[in-house]
Amino acid sequence: MNSPISCHDKLSDALVDAVTQAVRHAPSVLNTQPWRWRVHPARLELFADRSRQPSAMDPEGRLLMLSCGVVLDHVRVALAARGWVPQVRRTSGTSTPDLLATLTSFERVEITAKAHHLAHAMRIRHTDRRPVSDQPIFPVVLRAVTASAGERVRLHVLSPDQVLELSAAASRAATVAAKDTFARAELEYWTSRTMAEGSGLPAAVLPDHSPQTTVPGRLFGHPGTLPIGSGHDRAATYALLYGDEDDAERWLEAGETLSTVWLTATTLQVSVLPLSDVVSVPATREALRRMLRTFDHPYLALRLGIAAPQSGTPARTPSLPAAQLIETVPWTR
Ligand SMILES: Cc1cc2nc3c(=O)[nH]c(=O)nc-3n(C[C@H](O)[C@H](O)[C@H](O)COP(=O)(O)O)c2cc1C
Repeated sequence: MNSPISCHDKLSDALVDAVTQAVRHAPSVLNTQPWRWRVHPARLELFADRSRQPSAMDPEGRLLMLSCGVVLDHVRVALAARGWVPQVRRTSGTSTPDLLATLTSFERVEITAKAHHLAHAMRIRHTDRRPVSDQPIFPVVLRAVTASAGERVRLHVLSPDQVLELSAAASRAATVAAKDTFARAELEYWTSRTMAEGSGLPAAVLPDHSPQTTVPGRLFGHPGTLPIGSGHDRAATYALLYGDEDDAERWLEAGETLSTVWLTATTLQVSVLPLSDVVSVPATREALRRMLRTFDHPYLALRLGIAAPQSGTPARTPSLPAAQLIETVPWTR
């Protein structure tokens, strides 16, 4: 049997490993990676890093909170694959500024096949901005993806008429964003990063020309080098992640759900493309809100689809060195 100290050592190894994996793989808006982790021997703390918030495009920090929610869930996924389940206390910066969540009371659990699959999905998941194939998602697969969302943050699959409304709202959001000088400068900053810089979007992941699509994605202001081809993603499905509150706490939770939905979709070979400018612009966010019969709050629009066959995987978006994002607090006796 392990002594308490060696048990403790094992947990601390698992914590460092889980956080390292999460910061390496978690998606974030414009690949800003707006988070910091403090790793104690038996406690994890997640902080928002406002210095990497694109504040003209995301003044309220909703996309920052969504991104932080994703990395929070990624840590849980990486821990579950090592047989640990934490208790999570979400603070959303209410007690200590920018402290969003604390993970404590780690319990040993059996490592399930699902935990393995989600951790594998975490390592291979990526954003693909090319048109999806002509193959629609099988209804049973779509149901599994929507069912993976939670109770408080849900996923609404849009009807064909609602897709047209989303398309109009996305075009309008693009026009509004293009007129905003500060937002344009910010976009230019985050989309002219090199691979070596470790954050932002390098040319290799940006379309070499505007894809043919029913719902326009974010306009990056300049072409990249990702070959887009001539396909049209008319077989794509569109969905809204939504819930009944519109505050920082719920945006964090929405990010956690986004992580679950995206990883589940990855295990089912469904590609996910977030469409976030349509929720950043207040007028178009309101238009999306009217699509939800319950008049709940939309957090993010998603394009779901089956990746075109033989199209390969786009270049991997880089990540910042873990040492820049993780502070390890040593064990003191
Ligand atoms: C909250 C959030 C919003 C995002 N919004 C967009 C978007 O509007 N358009 C887009 O092309 N990608 C969007 N993304 C995808 C990110 O740009 C992408 O996850 C990041 O660059 C890392 O790349 P990866 O997903 O390939 O690892 C978003 C991601 C998150 C988490």
